[in-house]
Amino acid sequence: MQQSQSVIEEVKQKIDIVQFIGKYIQVKKSGRNYKAICPFHQEKSPSFYISQDRQIWHCFGACGVGGDVIAFFMKWENISFTEALKELAELSGVKFDTNEVLDKTLDKKQILYKINKLSADYYHFLLTKSDVGKEAMTYVKGRGTTEKIIETFYLGYAPQSWDSLYKFLKKKQISASDIFDAGLTVQNDNGSYYDRFRGRLMFPIMDQRGNISGFSGRLLEKDAKAVKYVNTPETIIYHKRESLYGIHLAKEAIRKEQNVLIVEGEFDMITPFQHGISNVVAIKGAAVTKEQLQVLKRYTQQITLALDADIAGAEAIRRGIAEAEKLEIATSVVTFDFAKDPDEAIKKDEIQFKKAIKNPISIYDFFISHAKRKFAGGSSIEKKGIGDEVIPYLSHITNPIVQSHYVRKLATILDVNEQSIYDILRKQLKSELLQSFKVKPSVEKQSTDDVIKREKYLMALVLQDDKPVEASRSVLEILIYEDFQIPALEKIAQRLAKFTGQYVQKEFFDDLPPELQPLANELFLYEIPETNMRNLIEKQVFLVKLDAIIRQSAFLNINRELSDDEKAEKMTILAKQRSEVEKKLKTL
Ligand code: CTP
Ligand code: MN
Repeated sequence: MQQSQSVIEEVKQKIDIVQFIGKYIQVKKSGRNYKAICPFHQEKSPSFYISQDRQIWHCFGACGVGGDVIAFFMKWENISFTEALKELAELSGVKFDTNEVLDKTLDKKQILYKINKLSADYYHFLLTKSDVGKEAMTYVKGRGTTEKIIETFYLGYAPQSWDSLYKFLKKKQISASDIFDAGLTVQNDNGSYYDRFRGRLMFPIMDQRGNISGFSGRLLEKDAKAVKYVNTPETIIYHKRESLYGIHLAKEAIRKEQNVLIVEGEFDMITPFQHGISNVVAIKGAAVTKEQLQVLKRYTQQITLALDADIAGAEAIRRGIAEAEKLEIATSVVTFDFAKDPDEAIKKDEIQFKKAIKNPISIYDFFISHAKRKFAGGSSIEKKGIGDEVIPYLSHITNPIVQSHYVRKLATILDVNEQSIYDILRKQLKSELLQSFKVKPSVEKQSTDDVIKREKYLMALVLQDDKPVEASRSVLEILIYEDFQIPALEKIAQRLAKFTGQYVQKEFFDDLPPELQPLANELFLYEIPETNMRNLIEKQVFLVKLDAIIRQSAFLNINRELSDDEKAEKMTILAKQRSEVEKKLKTL
């Protein structure tokens, strides 16, 4: 690990964090630091800060995370530390021998990717260059797929055989257990292995970086006895919940269009792609998962669902919308009634299909028409069903014009007056509000958050002052140990105050005990004004002092050990201090 420590240092020296992050997101200079819209959560004003001096970043918004350039890359690409380090080392020309690193899972993952690549080569060769693959080629071309697309998606054919892939890989010196761990073989009761994919058109499934993580194999013939699609099982590199077919080909278009069309099924991704719709990915099975949405959120905040037009598809849309809502992803829905899925639709009527995806319907229209189909009879029970299904969604519409539009629409369908729907909406909101009070932290807790913020801001001002040593000494003239809610902040102030000789930022940070470093880094990224720092510090000190006095008074009130007289005496002192501080604050 000694070796990799020096690799870490070298990589961090060679890569400038501002430039690096600037390649992924737009960063703007702001005072000493840089800021940006955080790529890891939804926000409108920037709370993502980068310090060039310290070569670190931190998000002060909902995610509250931060770190160095390696941490950013890990989070961006959703990869392990070692994977990130290896790639950054390559990028910056730092020598890095993976054998030096004791990361067994990395080595194993690399082996599995390699096995999948070899297998994809093998399947692709059979489909495109051999007689064995002729029937599959006829099939795939029969579905309208071009040769170019067959290359782009690297489609293949798994022959009708129990062991041809297995033998091929063994010849390449791959161990039986590694082949099995890649999901390419199945083990018999007697322990022997056979090929999982037999007689199938093969779709390599790639992650967003283009590594083949698994396969999906489709039967060539309709066969009632066999399953239509066989897929790679969960392995250490293939996770169904995260996988999005076509993502590596679609990601740039998704970023550019700021939208992604989500379909269900490999051909439903490939065919629109072939027809010029590049921002499309496929999920497998009916539900859009949180994990998939998290991957997509790196590229866009908007999704368009074009799932199958059956009831199961509609249910999947409903669940997908709920997941997306939690992640603050805007969702719309495409439905078409002239075909059963996007693959069929675009081949049947390309113009109509493209028109449909250009004009997706709102999720509310979708919910209404879905409920209408589900409860189609028109009886009072069915009407209640429609209301119960749709109203919960309408209560969340924040724009009153939009809300009244849908209330009117629903009232017409249910043949009731609008007021009765508003009444239900109000009742529902009220009960949700009550519920949220039960689960959310109390008011008391929230004010603690503000106190902590004020303390942190004070120490941020101190740390970023031109003369932090002097600044911290002035702070410690007013605040004592008990005045801090976060003891670590007091420790940082103490260490600064005790600094002797010329202050050198790097020395100070290098000397900080590791447990204080994340906090100090965070403070360094607070956005502070560049002028009048001393005045600000003075004011902030007294704000923190006031917090402390209020807190100490509250504690005094509930203290059971002191007599009433003692309490009264202490309370008087605190009250006096409080009025002094408040007077002082008025002058600042
Ligand atoms: N699927 C699966 N296992 C199955 C059936 C389906 O994994 N036994 C997945 C496949 O990824 C498939 C998707 O669910 O593409 C949608 O299934 P379906 O609508 O049945 O297939 P289509 O995509 O329409 O496939 P095709 O057009 O080739 O019939
Ligand atoms: Mn289909």
